[in-house]
Amino acid sequence: MCGIVGAIADRDVVPVLIEGLKRLEYRGYDSAGIAVVTEDRVRRVRRTGRVSEMESAAKAEHFTSSLGIGHTRWATHGGVTEDNAHPHISHGELALVHNGIIENHEQQRERLRGLGYTFESQTDTEVIAHLIHHYRAQGATLLGALQTAVRELDGAYALAVIDKRDPERMVAARMGCPLLIGLGDGENFVASDVSAIITSTRRVIFLEEGDTAELTREAVHVFGADGEPVQRDEHLSDVSLASMELGPYRHFMQKEIHEQPRAIADTIEALIGSNAFTPELFGSQAEDVLRDIDCVQILACGTSYYAGLTARYWIEAMVGIPCAVEVASEYRYRTVVANPRQLVVTLSQSGETLDTMEALKYAKSLGHERTLSICNVPESAIPRASRLVYYTRAGAEIGVASTKAFTTQLVALFTLAVTLAKLRGKLSDGQEEELLDSLRHLPGSVQHALNLEPQIALWAERFAPRQHALFLGRGVHYPIALEGALKLKEITYIHAEAYPAGELKHGPLALVDKDMPVVVIAPNDRLLEKVKSNMQEVRARGGELFVFTDADSQFGESEGVHVIRTPRHVGMLSPILHTIPVQLLAYHTALARGTDVDKPRNLAKSVTVE
Ligand code: G6P
Repeated sequence: MCGIVGAIADRDVVPVLIEGLKRLEYRGYDSAGIAVVTEDRVRRVRRTGRVSEMESAAKAEHFTSSLGIGHTRWATHGGVTEDNAHPHISHGELALVHNGIIENHEQQRERLRGLGYTFESQTDTEVIAHLIHHYRAQGATLLGALQTAVRELDGAYALAVIDKRDPERMVAARMGCPLLIGLGDGENFVASDVSAIITSTRRVIFLEEGDTAELTREAVHVFGADGEPVQRDEHLSDVSLASMELGPYRHFMQKEIHEQPRAIADTIEALIGSNAFTPELFGSQAEDVLRDIDCVQILACGTSYYAGLTARYWIEAMVGIPCAVEVASEYRYRTVVANPRQLVVTLSQSGETLDTMEALKYAKSLGHERTLSICNVPESAIPRASRLVYYTRAGAEIGVASTKAFTTQLVALFTLAVTLAKLRGKLSDGQEEELLDSLRHLPGSVQHALNLEPQIALWAERFAPRQHALFLGRGVHYPIALEGALKLKEITYIHAEAYPAGELKHGPLALVDKDMPVVVIAPNDRLLEKVKSNMQEVRARGGELFVFTDADSQFGESEGVHVIRTPRHVGMLSPILHTIPVQLLAYHTALARGTDVDKPRNLAKSVTVE
């Protein structure tokens, strides 16, 4: 979603801003812009569409500057137009970029109109620029004006502001949206995401809720919510540049699908190293937090929610305690019965999804103290707000459609389920050794599943002309059917629905005819015979079946029934293995349809608004 980059340096920062915005493209956006202070003027370029279009326009303007801010916008208030793109400028003097949503923007707009301000956009953001300008006009410093203005805002924001009357500084503020400061040598940066500045510096300070900051070339000063100076720790980012580069692949999604054996191996490295499912894998306080929990509540959005649904089967079966899974945006607005012995698990690959963050805050406000976050981005907001953390080690995921983040979340959740089972005395040494062994072999099995790519690409050609598809699964594979349908609709725009196979006859069967492809996840587990009956129901109505199964199941192809087998049966880890073919099916169908695989229309990688 929206991205921010800003720089103050002794060199021309225009290329720094443009490169930063390119590195933020993966988050999803619909317009981009930069503003700089140069020769006592604020100059700005904005364009709808790609950063490269904005870059060409900026080059045509031939300006250079040592102070500037940039933004990629994902429209919320106001359509996708150049006028609504950031930066927003007040009185030709002050320029501002904003991530988040200002809830009281209408009242502020009325007030500012009364003070003589006029508005050029429909955004909630423009009011912040005018508000800061208003306090500047009353004599406040840039930082003072920002600090006064943000006290009058309701909602969420990350802000970076420059002013032509003060060309030696940039100011920034954070509330509810991530913002960090990059520390350089004689130059400093702001960014919503470390990837935006990684080629300039790895030294970063994460601003906390309510912080404001003032940056010059030589110094950075951070102030807490009360306006008093505070020290925030400096971190060295280990984000790898290679994970942000395409290498020999055509798309990031393809690269990330193929990185899964490595990502899984990295995620279980500590577990395999300790050779035991120990609570410490989840943090130093984990034994205390996990020991006497009596139920689990998982909260997440999108693909992460499907990882949660899968985990429910594992947790209830292995641990023997109830596990509920809920979409974060629903949980946060309903009356919830609090239970102090409940473990609240938030799943978020980005660690910054607003609904998930708000759901966690809500759970904490109800008195839930046992909180665990499973996340792929160290130091992001959700793990920082949780007592326990398990970091998946998938590496940066750039494709909007999540792949390696999902399978590594599953690995983390499986580790959690086994650890909880062990804490409750439900795991013999032999069983623990067996489960460790199956995890050890998982990267190899995933590699074998990836080798099915040519067969799956052939299926994809048959899917490409379709308008609709059904996905079916049962038990622990039902969430994988959901994930398969989500992947297909996200990147191919084919309408895809997933159902528990047993539910077919209660409605979706009415949709089945010869034009409806039906994908079935049907590994050899105790529900296979049931799934086979459901498949007969499809065939009897002329539906064409595309079945993913494993080496152990004993059924073959027949008319209207196409079968692809993953080479091994991996027991309880089977949902992880069966994710690979549905990812590849979506990817190759998207290729055949010629869609923008890594940046599907209307979607964003990190959803930092409601
Ligand atoms: C967006 C992304 C999805 C992702 C979801 C939750 O919708 O497009 O791929 O699953 O957010 O993201 P999170 O970072 O919280 O896992």
